[in-house]
Amino acid sequence: MSHGNDRSPLARFPRIPPQILRLILLTAAIVFSYFGARALLTPPSFGQHGFYRGAALGEVAAREPVYAGAKACAECHDQEVAALASGGHRLLACEVCHGPGQVHVDNPDIKPQILHFSHCARCHEASISRPKWHKQVVTREHYSGSNCTECHVPHKPEEVP
Ligand code: HEC
Ligand code: HEC
Ligand code: HEC
Ligand code: HEC
Repeated sequence: MSHGNDRSPLARFPRIPPQILRLILLTAAIVFSYFGARALLTPPSFGQHGFYRGAALGEVAAREPVYAGAKACAECHDQEVAALASGGHRLLACEVCHGPGQVHVDNPDIKPQILHFSHCARCHEASISRPKWHKQVVTREHYSGSNCTECHVPHKPEEVP
């Protein structure tokens, strides 16, 4: 029987409505512009070693270090190193209080900072967020008006100067 079978096989599918065709074209345009932008905007060294810019390694390594590290101070300040190691502040590194020290290590004539109140309070101002073992004071009520270092030796904080 050839009845109803005389049309071409394609014509059996209904025509794609124009709004669907536009949606398909729009989707294709978005996908193409995404891949185009990715090809144009990805830095050349991206993905060299992993999901980051390979050239970033060299850029970071080229920066001058500002911290000298705990061992660098011992070369010239063995007294302070010994004092610190035997007291309550033994867990602290020199540069925690004196700031980045590389400039001073390279040229000792350039003095590092010596800080008083704000530095001690940074770690000892009473706060509920600190661990219980960490000794804290309410600085407003703890001999306010005097410098902390008048009564505590910073390198050996349990001692009185
Ligand atoms: C190459 C030797 C050398 C190294 C390394 C060194 N210092 Fe010094 N430092 C000195 C000299 C010299 C002085 C001056 C001493 C003086 O005036 O009595 C000094 C002074 C200081 C002072 C006192 C500054 C002042 O205003 O009186 C501090 C604080 C200090 N150094 C901290 C550090 C720290 C922290 C480090 C490690 C990052 C360090 N130093 C590494 C040689 C060194
Ligand atoms: C808890 C903070 C703190 C740490 C950690 C610390 N210092 Fe100090 N340091 C101070 C303060 C504060 C002064 C100033 C003391 C003063 O004026 O009485 C000082 C003074 C100094 C001085 C000047 C001389 C003196 O004794 O007054 C030198 C040198 C020094 N520190 C080196 C070091 C070195 C080296 C280390 C590491 C081994 C270190 N400090 C660790 C806070 C600290
Ligand atoms: C970077 C954080 C930090 C800074 C800055 C700091 N401390 Fe401490 N301090 C500690 C830690 C950690 C301990 C040891 C744990 C404890 O006893 O709370 C300590 C202990 C102490 C103690 C108790 C010592 C004992 O064994 O009885 C005193 C007092 C003290 N610090 C005073 C000071 C003074 C004064 C300054 C400023 C010159 C200062 N601290 C700066 C972290 C800090
Ligand atoms: C007039 C002297 C004096 C001054 C100034 C002073 N303190 Fe004290 N501090 C003491 C004495 C004495 C103690 C031990 C007895 C007590 O807790 O009052 C002490 C204890 C501490 C303790 C240990 C607390 C505990 O729970 O055991 C810390 C931490 C401390 N002081 C930090 C500081 C800081 C930070 C400053 C500066 C803001 C400072 N002190 C200024 C005399 C002083």
